[in-house]
Amino acid sequence: MPDDMRQNYDVAAALAEAEARFAEANPKSGAAYADACRGMPGGNTRTVLFYPPYPLMLARGEGCRLFDLDGHAYVDFQVEQTAGIYGHSEAKILDAVRAAMSEGITLGGPTVREARLASLFQSRFPAVELVRFTNSGTEANLLALATARAVTGREKLIGFKGSYHGSVISFGPYGNSLNVPFPWTFCRYNDIEGARAAIREIAQDLAAVILEPMTGSGGCIRATPEFIAMLREETEKAGALLMFDEVMTSRLSPGGLHGAWGVKPDIVTFGKYLGGGLTFGAFGGKAAIMERFDPRRPGALAHAGTFNNNVLTLAAAIAGLEEVYTPAAATKLNAAGDALRERLNGVLKAAGVAGQVTGIGSMMMVHLTGEALTSPEDSGKVSPDLRGLLHMAMIERGYYMARRNMIVLSLPMTAVEIDGLVGAFEDAIRQYRDILPRA
Ligand SMILES: Cc1ncc(COP(=O)(O)O)c(C=O)c1O
Repeated sequence: MPDDMRQNYDVAAALAEAEARFAEANPKSGAAYADACRGMPGGNTRTVLFYPPYPLMLARGEGCRLFDLDGHAYVDFQVEQTAGIYGHSEAKILDAVRAAMSEGITLGGPTVREARLASLFQSRFPAVELVRFTNSGTEANLLALATARAVTGREKLIGFKGSYHGSVISFGPYGNSLNVPFPWTFCRYNDIEGARAAIREIAQDLAAVILEPMTGSGGCIRATPEFIAMLREETEKAGALLMFDEVMTSRLSPGGLHGAWGVKPDIVTFGKYLGGGLTFGAFGGKAAIMERFDPRRPGALAHAGTFNNNVLTLAAAIAGLEEVYTPAAATKLNAAGDALRERLNGVLKAAGVAGQVTGIGSMMMVHLTGEALTSPEDSGKVSPDLRGLLHMAMIERGYYMARRNMIVLSLPMTAVEIDGLVGAFEDAIRQYRDILPRA
């Protein structure tokens, strides 16, 4: 496509044109969206999936490809916000779910599957001495935070501005008006002295500090080793718990980021791909904490949840960890992600565009700014219009990625899909080079 030198042509104008082309190319998605608006506010039941003029309505998926209602095919780099690591049709997972279905679902009692999955967690994640399962990452974090308060007998919690820990524990751009009313103190991510001072100031009342070791939706920005070391030391001194939210990042090495970095948080939370593509969450950690849930103990903590041990999720989760996302597969996928990130950064550099692709391994985010990014709030240095424009540009080229410009790898991807993404990215950057920030 030719470079665009029109006067008054800026990111907002380019985005408006891209949206008009999108609407023209996707009439069936448009009609389905209008229909959805009759039953759901804004036709939506997951805020993160909305983008104007309306989201593509997905008809089906196969391997690492998605097909929409208008018959377009996309390579899927959105990967269900990291949960879709196995792709859409991994035979070992489908077989495991079918086998579980044939033995009956919603049984209403324990099965041997939950113990098997618990043992897989223990062998994979060094911080997990004991574990409990939930239905989502949000639920895992809620329970972990409530557990920290119960076992320490303290009220206060520290979190980091711009972070996301679930739909009601959200400190980022989605707003916090629906958050559960925990007494939070917020610090800046990677601000060693600020967070140290905050921990010391409320040490007597502090139950836990929660963070993602690399922020996922908050920009794929990693915590520095010095920041993590300070948090470990200061929480220990304060008698508070250090919680790692590894709902997204546990995929980044065979043992999550805490395993890769040799850090021992007191509690770690999980979700996403670990359910094999079905609804899932988990929290685990030190035996001394988790044993408080032992129902044989007087005064045990209670944690109910009708579907905590649903057999379909357990079957998919076990098959995934045992047969597909093995430690070797995790290492390979993340090496592919590191190589891709380097290539995408090379594209930006060669085009003279100010931008950076941050991340670790198979999770990365494009930020079309040259400014330093050290905290999830810094994602806001790129305007929503600019993120929207890149999103639309990649959709037009057959590459589905998250609106926030996050790119995630899945196991069915080969060099064909990865080379294709790099080519599409290069082409999109070239198309809009004249209205993008210059390096
Ligand atoms: C870091 C993090 N924690 C928690 C959650 C919440 O998980 P769920 O959507 O399964 O409730 C998410 C979801 O994106 C997440 O990214």
